[in-house]
Amino acid sequence: MDDLRDKYIGLIADAADEAAIEDLRVQAVGKKGEVALKMRELGKMTPEERQIMGPKLNALKDEINSALSAKKAALADAALEERLRTEWLDVTLPGRGRRQGTIHPISQVTEEVTAIFADMGFAVAEGPQIETDWYNFDALNIPGHHPARAEMDTFYTHRAEGDNRPPHVLRTHTSPVQIRSMEKQGAPIRIICPGRVYRADYDQTHTPMFHQIEGLAIDKDISMANLKWVLEEFFTAFFGTEVKTRFRSSHFPFVEPGAEVDIQCKWENGSVKVGEGDDWLEVLGSGMVHPHVLKAGGIDPDEYQGFAFGIGIDRLAMLKYGIPDLRAFFDSDLRWLRHYGFASLDQPTLHGGLVR
Ligand code: DAH
Repeated sequence: MDDLRDKYIGLIADAADEAAIEDLRVQAVGKKGEVALKMRELGKMTPEERQIMGPKLNALKDEINSALSAKKAALADAALEERLRTEWLDVTLPGRGRRQGTIHPISQVTEEVTAIFADMGFAVAEGPQIETDWYNFDALNIPGHHPARAEMDTFYTHRAEGDNRPPHVLRTHTSPVQIRSMEKQGAPIRIICPGRVYRADYDQTHTPMFHQIEGLAIDKDISMANLKWVLEEFFTAFFGTEVKTRFRSSHFPFVEPGAEVDIQCKWENGSVKVGEGDDWLEVLGSGMVHPHVLKAGGIDPDEYQGFAFGIGIDRLAMLKYGIPDLRAFFDSDLRWLRHYGFASLDQPTLHGGLVR
């Protein structure tokens, strides 16, 4: 029994890792281990012998077990020691700089415009970018044969062979949201609808996807004078300076009468300054909502009337922030985004004057 004891105490002391400890446990005190074999011999002994050998064997078993757990704990301590020695971090090192992204000028200007109109009681409405031709054209008093359909360079979706429904279109303007909003909420109504629009066109001032804000106000006593006041108020707030406007009579199928609106500007070394000089720059279309359009939206034109307008957001951003080429807006060039982008905390407010 002493040999057994010396053998295992020695082996345990030399064990290199937890797996070796486990092997030794099985060999020594496991169910079929050496100590268990000795226990079985107890049966062949006389009661007197058994009284001596029984406790001795139990004591041996206990001794081996405690040697095993002591060694196991020692190995775990050593492993932890080793990790603490090798895995360390110098928390005094300087951090890695991460550049913050910027707010795109289109998003910024959309927020600015929304804030100004919200202050005048306009809520924000939205509609789908993939439209039926009814919402994009017919309901806006642009019937199938109307030249405006061809002029708009519309993108049509593909229909499967044999599917004879008219194709959907990528909306060419935000005006269909007028109809959707009239249907949804009825009159009176006072909304703006910012969003993406699409036309097959590409040069320095045109991209196939661009942005508009539609405005719509309908009530029982709305006139062209209200339209003029709202727009003048808007331009002054947006550009942060008094801006003269010029309303030129013009034709849009969805309004009668219709007007294009120019703002006062000055050209200086190839760039444009708003609110000075005596040149004019066209920035939006507007007018009194056509009775056909009110009817299409489910509103009685004998009871209600109103005005509508559509502004190009991209154009406004170019004018306000001196951005010369529209195409760069959508190139995702990081140098451009860092130059023209806005800090995320630099959000427009009316009391902040909207300008940075
Ligand atoms: N939808 C027109 C366009 O995209 C812009 C427009 C003109 C909107 C007159 C209007 C409006 O609401 O009254 O060219």
